[in-house]
Amino acid sequence: MAKITAGVATSHVPAIGAAIDNKKTQDPYWQPLFEGYEYGKEWMKEQNPDVVILVFNDHASAFDLNFVPTFAIACGEEFKPADEGWGPRPVPNVQGHPQLASHIAQTVIQDNFDLTVVNTMDVDHGLTVPLSLMFGEPENWPAKIIPIAVNVVLYPAPSGQRCFNLGKAIAKAVESFDDDLNVQIWGTGGMSHQLQGPRAGLINKEFDNDFLDQIVDNAEELAKKPHFDYLNEAGSEGIELVMWLIMRGALNDDVELKKRFYHVPASNTAVGHLILENK
Ligand code: DHB
Ligand code: FE
Repeated sequence: MAKITAGVATSHVPAIGAAIDNKKTQDPYWQPLFEGYEYGKEWMKEQNPDVVILVFNDHASAFDLNFVPTFAIACGEEFKPADEGWGPRPVPNVQGHPQLASHIAQTVIQDNFDLTVVNTMDVDHGLTVPLSLMFGEPENWPAKIIPIAVNVVLYPAPSGQRCFNLGKAIAKAVESFDDDLNVQIWGTGGMSHQLQGPRAGLINKEFDNDFLDQIVDNAEELAKKPHFDYLNEAGSEGIELVMWLIMRGALNDDVELKKRFYHVPASNTAVGHLILENK
């Protein structure tokens, strides 16, 4: 049987990808951030997952504003890094797991969650930056990746509760897949940040640290946090945090916290990172 063994949460920022690709990770600005991911890279080598279900958001790279699915699952064989204006990142293509992805689509859709099925999709920094942070710079990504894209760009975005429940449905789907697979689920994006308008540059350390506390041990309550609270307290792009709730919903109630890291700033963003193992 396939089994979800652990969850990872991490922010994504295009400038983190650029710092890696341009060999600037030891610059004084970046060094403290990358140090926070050293544990994770070692842990990942021990865990050696077969498949990562990677919950992320596309930033008008694969889905322009003509078509924006609320939830989409990528069932293709391979996904290329997207060109976000400076050419695609020089990272490996992402290999999918069409069999498990299709099984999740089948099970979750029959469980009343309407996922859009995507077969061809370029993946932007929302997906490739978390991969780089957790896997470093390998020639090929060491796990198969099932991208799940969530709309947090064009309002309305899904509620935290909907995301949490989707995570539970994904876990049920994984557990009913016959092959023995070590599966992780990652929730990415966030923490507090706002990229535009009068409040551009907003960071809210208190909100972020409260979110980090609650997602570990009080996630059922955290899932009830209304949309407006994310916007109001964590900034317009802070809503990316609902994707962490998909990851958390897919884990057991009881988890072991292996790593917690928080750093400000990376570009315009507060960076948060958690590693949770299923107990
Ligand atoms: C930044 C953060 C994001 O989440 C994003 O998608 C793009 C840019 C930033 O902080 O620069
Ligand atoms: Fe983003």
